[in-house]
Amino acid sequence: MSYTTVHVPLGDRAYDVRIGAGLVAEAGAHIAPLLGKKKKVFVLTDETVAALHLNALEAGLAADGIDMVSLALPAGETTKAWPQFTRAVEWLLEEKCERKDIVVAFGGGVIGDLAGFAAAVLRRGVRFVQIPTTLLAQVDSSVGGKTGINAPQGKNLIGAFHQPSLVLADISILGTLTQRDFLAGYGEVQKYGLLGDESFFEWLEVNGPALAAGDMELRTEAVRWSVQMKADIVERDETEQGDRALLNLGHTFCHVLESATGYGDRLLHGEGVAIGCALAFELSSRLGLCSQEAPSRVRAHLKAMGMKCDLTDIPGNLPSAETLVDMMSQDKKVVDGQLRFILARGIGEAFVTADVPREAVLKVIQDGLDG
Ligand code: GLY
Repeated sequence: MSYTTVHVPLGDRAYDVRIGAGLVAEAGAHIAPLLGKKKKVFVLTDETVAALHLNALEAGLAADGIDMVSLALPAGETTKAWPQFTRAVEWLLEEKCERKDIVVAFGGGVIGDLAGFAAAVLRRGVRFVQIPTTLLAQVDSSVGGKTGINAPQGKNLIGAFHQPSLVLADISILGTLTQRDFLAGYGEVQKYGLLGDESFFEWLEVNGPALAAGDMELRTEAVRWSVQMKADIVERDETEQGDRALLNLGHTFCHVLESATGYGDRLLHGEGVAIGCALAFELSSRLGLCSQEAPSRVRAHLKAMGMKCDLTDIPGNLPSAETLVDMMSQDKKVVDGQLRFILARGIGEAFVTADVPREAVLKVIQDGLDG
């Protein structure tokens, strides 16, 4: 077994994130120490991942004498709501998933969030293992214990903090992602450099194109570095009373753009994060917080990666700047009517502030729409 480990040190909720190629094939060896006499796990997945990888997981578990039962939900964001959540919880009960059993979340962010929330509420909490199959889920949603589903009123409004017992990030599985999905996940990777570590951003400027082209060692290192940064932040602020909000760099812009484009194929979440990061640096520069070179450097890297970085890169029409800024006030990061932004004093130096004049946000978006 060859893998690298990031430990998430949260007292009695501490766990490992193991990162490497081939972990699905070895899943049984990693999960067996968590099981008691009953050598069986309960796998929640989606139909796309099931078709590609469920046989491999089954074989990887069987190699260590572990049986599995599985439920494949429809792929896509609409699954992350009450109907499929209810289906998953009732399936776990029908399959007699008991208090000491393990639920396995095998998929991207939708499955990880839904399965984690199912585990959080089933019998008042059972343990779960995350096996994230997208880059986005490996570097963000599978780590840190945010679980939940969407409400008609907004994304992720129903949920719980429930930490996994183990995360297995199999780098080889990323090979089946489309380039667009891989690069969308990269939107979250570059965010870590921008928010807290200029040396990571520099490393990505050098190595990003090769890792996007498929280099496994570079992919492993990018996931390790991202997860280590997330683990450090989650250790300081598990329930987002302060520093954890830094992980939302680019997300205030992203959420409004996702909402304006219908949460679909026009703009993937990670693409919105990348554009949002570029806008957050542009806003920071115009407010005199960071140099003019910083937003140019962010955009240059995204362009070098072949990623969307400007509002004009989003296909189709967007609402007016006024409408987009009004929509921002619906964001769940509004506290006492004040919009909170993550701004930056430079690459790797992000901070949270509510002190952002509406006019400045409006102008950045207006100029972005004008191209
Ligand atoms: N995805 C942001 C967080 O985990 O806090």
